[in-house]
Amino acid sequence: MKELEIGPLLHEGKAKKVFHTNHKAVVAVQFKDDATAFNAQKKAQLAGKGLLNWEISARLFEALETRGVASHYLGCLEPGWMAVQALKIVPLEVVLRNLAAGSLCKQLPITPGSSLQPALLDLYYKDDALGDPLLTEARLELLALLEPAERVQLEAKSRDVNRVLQQIFVEINITLVDFKLEFGRCDAGKLLLADEISPDTCRLWNQSDQRVLDKDRFRKDLGGVVEAYGEVLKRVQGLGPTPRQYR
Ligand code: TMP
Repeated sequence: MKELEIGPLLHEGKAKKVFHTNHKAVVAVQFKDDATAFNAQKKAQLAGKGLLNWEISARLFEALETRGVASHYLGCLEPGWMAVQALKIVPLEVVLRNLAAGSLCKQLPITPGSSLQPALLDLYYKDDALGDPLLTEARLELLALLEPAERVQLEAKSRDVNRVLQQIFVEINITLVDFKLEFGRCDAGKLLLADEISPDTCRLWNQSDQRVLDKDRFRKDLGGVVEAYGEVLKRVQGLGPTPRQYR
């Protein structure tokens, strides 16, 4: 196989850029320093965030893989970049909530920090122009984004990720409050975990004192965003060896 070469830009999102490569089934993802919140109404550049989320995400995808949960992750390229399987992303955001926080507590009379068992699974339609609306099951069917069997798989896979990620974070004294996942289909049509897993996409609280170690520090102007992400990386580094290089 020829050495991987990065090709033209395929897609630019709020926190990452995705590039074609000379390997048809592989795309290269670059993690950006841009931070956005409230559907990009609030924006900032946070120097170092891209590198932190890149390494945290690579290590978490590897930790999931070791524990039997597959994803699009193939390996790391140069710092800030990873190689992942080329997928057709399903335009859904799957949010799992173990403790009540964020939009759930704004929209419903639920005390922040209440335990949700089983974890609450919320599906949102991924469309910035529409503000990523919360879906009902009927609206999900109306959109016909998933076959009925895929709807079942999506939930089962998401709950597997939650179970295993919770175990991983307990080992490093972090409470996994909630998080967002995205899935894509490979050429054969199989659903696979995609996107990233980082303090941008998870709520993470320090176990001993509930200190916020995620993007809520940015959303709520708590300060110390990059320092908190650095603390998450330090702990995640304790899980295993340096992430593998892609070829
Ligand atoms: P929410 O409480 O704002 O609905 O967020 C739930 C989780 O999903 C939280 O961990 C942050 C994450 N999230 C994203 O990754 N992207 C988004 O666009 C939103 C709104 C939330």
